[in-house]
Amino acid sequence: MKALVLAGGRGTRLRPLTYTMAKQLAPVANRPILFYVIRHILDASIEDIGVILSPETGDQVQAALAEYFPGRPFTLILQEQPLGLAHAVRVARPFLGDDAFVMYLGDNLIGQGIRDLVETFRREQADAVILLKEVSDPRMFGVAEVDGDGRVRRLVEKPQTPPSRLALVGVYVLAPCIHEAVEAIQPSWRGELEITDAIQYLLDRGYRVQSRILQSWWLDTGKKDDLLEANRVVLDEQAQRAIEGHVDADSRIIGRVTVEKDARIIRSEVRGPAVIGAGTLVDESFIGPYTSIGRNCLLRRATLEHCVLLDGVRIEGVVRLEDSLIGRNAVLRRAFPDRSALRLFIGDDAEVVL
Ligand code: TTP
Repeated sequence: MKALVLAGGRGTRLRPLTYTMAKQLAPVANRPILFYVIRHILDASIEDIGVILSPETGDQVQAALAEYFPGRPFTLILQEQPLGLAHAVRVARPFLGDDAFVMYLGDNLIGQGIRDLVETFRREQADAVILLKEVSDPRMFGVAEVDGDGRVRRLVEKPQTPPSRLALVGVYVLAPCIHEAVEAIQPSWRGELEITDAIQYLLDRGYRVQSRILQSWWLDTGKKDDLLEANRVVLDEQAQRAIEGHVDADSRIIGRVTVEKDARIIRSEVRGPAVIGAGTLVDESFIGPYTSIGRNCLLRRATLEHCVLLDGVRIEGVVRLEDSLIGRNAVLRRAFPDRSALRLFIGDDAEVVL
């Protein structure tokens, strides 16, 4: 069994972050989403991992893989253009050969591993196994119609009248017959080769497509609020109290807070679950729950909670910042003396709620 991780694509919904950063590297509890994806694959004892890269962000994805999985080899596969998930399978054919493989979308986070899914594939001798999750509004997803034994009857992409509430999560186990399907299908109305069309092709020809229902949470981190929610859920489940940096005598650290190496907390209060990145200075500030602060940030007289700050952010004199996602090296500073006018220098596609 091999694994194919999709870390290409455009990431338009997560602009402006994705102008300079791969969507799969957006941090959740201070680790890239891709880290959790690869860890699930390794936990399922799959060692032979190919990663689809785009020309724009391939270098940074490669650097992150080396940083988080030092010494582990990956097969890097360049997809020149994001022409769809099934197109990525076409491009990866030399790597995949005639092996079965797990296809895992690099921006999807799920609350449990994928062993069960791989096990179902083997036990049922299926040609494909798809992971499904019951959602309240399936109209914006690929949706599956399934019989009582979990066998898939039909797939529909973003249906107006959904046949069920079972949405396709971005993890699939596929037998080599998928290559026949991805070669045969035509681009959809949005110009992409869709993996749902390829799996529907298998269904139409009597191949055996099974499903598993995901019992835990699933977060597709495509948009800002999804990413904040992923951060909340992962901190809630995984945050630990670990103080590697310096906390002065005037500060209070409450609950599960990680203060990474060389971070300094001075005259401040931090309430977990939260993580403060290496080299960050928190001075005269209050950091509330569900906040992840990247590396080398500076927070002075700031109050924030339920926020994700990427590396190098500077926040000074700003109180009650909530539900915010702040990109690398951004500066938020209250003018002193306090003036009523707002002065902003904001990148393309940014959103500011005042
Ligand atoms: P999507 O979220 O469907 O596509 P996208 O990354 O282009 O995002 P947006 O809609 O915001 O523009 O992709 C799911 C995952 O698959 C994501 O990790 C990117 C990856 N992908 C590829 O690697 N190659 C592709 O051709 C496409 C379409 C996506």
